[in-house]
Amino acid sequence: MTEDLIKQAKAILRRNDRGSYTVPTHGLYPFQWNWDSCLSALGFSHFDEERAWTEIDTLFANQWPDGMVPHIVFHEEDDGYFPGPDVWRTGRPVPTSGITQPAVAGFAVRRLVDRARDRELAATRARALLPRIHAWHEWFYRCRDPQGTGLVAIIHPWESGRDNSVDWDDVFDRVPTDGVEPFNRRDTQHANPSHRPTQAQYERYIWLVQRFRSLGWDNTKLHDASPFQVVDPGFNAILIRSSSDLADLAEQLDVPEIAAQSRGHAARGVAAMETLWSDGIGQYLCQDRTTGTLIKSPSIAGLLAGFAPIPAPRAKAIAERLTTLGGQVDHLVPSHDPGAREFDSLRYWRGPVWLIVNYMIADGLMRSGEAAIAQRIINDSLRLIERSGFAEYYDPHTAEPCGGDQFTWTAAIVIELLSQELTPA
Ligand code: DGY
Repeated sequence: MTEDLIKQAKAILRRNDRGSYTVPTHGLYPFQWNWDSCLSALGFSHFDEERAWTEIDTLFANQWPDGMVPHIVFHEEDDGYFPGPDVWRTGRPVPTSGITQPAVAGFAVRRLVDRARDRELAATRARALLPRIHAWHEWFYRCRDPQGTGLVAIIHPWESGRDNSVDWDDVFDRVPTDGVEPFNRRDTQHANPSHRPTQAQYERYIWLVQRFRSLGWDNTKLHDASPFQVVDPGFNAILIRSSSDLADLAEQLDVPEIAAQSRGHAARGVAAMETLWSDGIGQYLCQDRTTGTLIKSPSIAGLLAGFAPIPAPRAKAIAERLTTLGGQVDHLVPSHDPGAREFDSLRYWRGPVWLIVNYMIADGLMRSGEAAIAQRIINDSLRLIERSGFAEYYDPHTAEPCGGDQFTWTAAIVIELLSQELTPA
């Protein structure tokens, strides 16, 4: 069974491989996506290390001069996706979007180095990527934390990767829709519309894109100009974990300045995460930066926070909350609390299970010594694959496969889970 699943997963990676980058899935997502690529590299690393490094190199070859790494790189023309480069108009040599995505690169590169069979290849490629990843992290703290709080804000839901999370509902009321140019969605032609974000949400996504475009994609202006500024604990946890991993890597490669600065970012981030903790719900919450208030929405963001080196009592509380959720669904981890009114088991980030998030939560909790719940998450993830194949996401009750199929990062995580033991640090 294990061998067979790995074989199927490899075939998906090969099928979605476009030579120097992979597409997340055929049709629905025909370009290179930032965090998809970095997580997919983990899958490649088990059978083709050179190809794994190329995936991340290609992404960073399209880094912006200010340090940002865009969320999409439009390597080839494809009118099957909206919004394409003609909407973003960022003026980059290879067209890209103008916003970013969760900073998983630092974590992924460290993992590639740790497990490298070809040590020389790994040292060369990691040494070249180190200052680039560091420049991205510095960009985050400069442009998305202008007040120096220790935590960065996202300015568009697409940056979190959790496009239509319940977390954004109230803040999204503040985003207008006047002046949105007419558009034709393409996602609903590739995937079941009832599994995707709504039209009202899309209008606001595009309003934000047009707003940032009108400011010339100048990242010294976008944060303050955005009516959507949210501090997402999961997004910050990924950045903190990557900063901490980058610090370790920089020490190994003898680059002390990057090591010290990265260590500082991680320490400040972990301390500042305390401001997002909710004793009442037993997890971290998002914060609406424009009002300073916590958003009382029990989503997976506050559980993904366990991916960062958070204090042991917080990890324990997250493990307890996951255990409770585990009594309510067949498959952990639902992307929203099934007891909440807004929960929707089939609609994208409002309830379904995502394997990449499961992987990161399990990895973090394993390191914190919460092995039992981490193992349950891994077992549930693999049961989903056995029942329903390599989908984009799954109904946590029925395991119904949703969204795109033959999905690259789902396949990559299956290879990752089946090829290595997650062990306590
Ligand atoms: C989409 O198009 O669905 C993406 O999530 C935006 O990156």
